[in-house]
Amino acid sequence: MAEPDLTTIDNQVRSCTKCALSSTRTQAVPGEGSPTADLMFIGEGPGFHEDRQGRPFVGPAGQLLDKLLASIGLNRADVYITNMVKCRPPENRDPHPGELAACSGYLNEQIRLISPKVLVTLGRHSFGKFFPNETISKARGRPRKWNGNTLFPIYHPAAALHNPRLKPALEEDFQKLKSMLESNDAPVEEQKGSPEEPNQLSLF
Ligand code: URA
Ligand code: SF4
Repeated sequence: MAEPDLTTIDNQVRSCTKCALSSTRTQAVPGEGSPTADLMFIGEGPGFHEDRQGRPFVGPAGQLLDKLLASIGLNRADVYITNMVKCRPPENRDPHPGELAACSGYLNEQIRLISPKVLVTLGRHSFGKFFPNETISKARGRPRKWNGNTLFPIYHPAAALHNPRLKPALEEDFQKLKSMLESNDAPVEEQKGSPEEPNQLSLF
């Protein structure tokens, strides 16, 4: 039997009935972007606009994501964008654990096939799949290892739209992402103020 490719997964997702979200969705939203992307963005689940269009991050949060990508010289076609659950939860409620579990096989396959340099989790739910017992405000902006992949948690763009005070952190984390992509070896541990910091000259 042939190995599944991304198109096979898209088709499976579009006709999937493995959880109850299939009965309330308009369209499933498998994800989109480059099959050889260095960056894979993982959101929580489709919202109203995504459910209508069958494409991820096409509403206001998506517009902010596009701007953040542009700020580091990238566009959607350069990256891969998907979600933890591929069908919209009614009224945008949080996905239930059973729904996350039912859907996780698709995401795992997408990660395996694309094998990105960096998995970027958007917001606390997506981060929580990988590290359930940590808070996003503490974890954001620090790359770490997960299953042989580099994972980089950042705030969800929708959170920054609701709370503009989170926006500078999000912008800063995109700049960090840029330098991670430029260096051959993504830093895995947070670099705390290194002793040889050139601009830490004594003020005395
Ligand atoms: N929020 C998400 O988490 N995913 C989308 O696709 C859109 C908004
Ligand atoms: Fe299938 Fe995932 Fe949609 Fe549930 S959310 S029906 S598991 S594609």
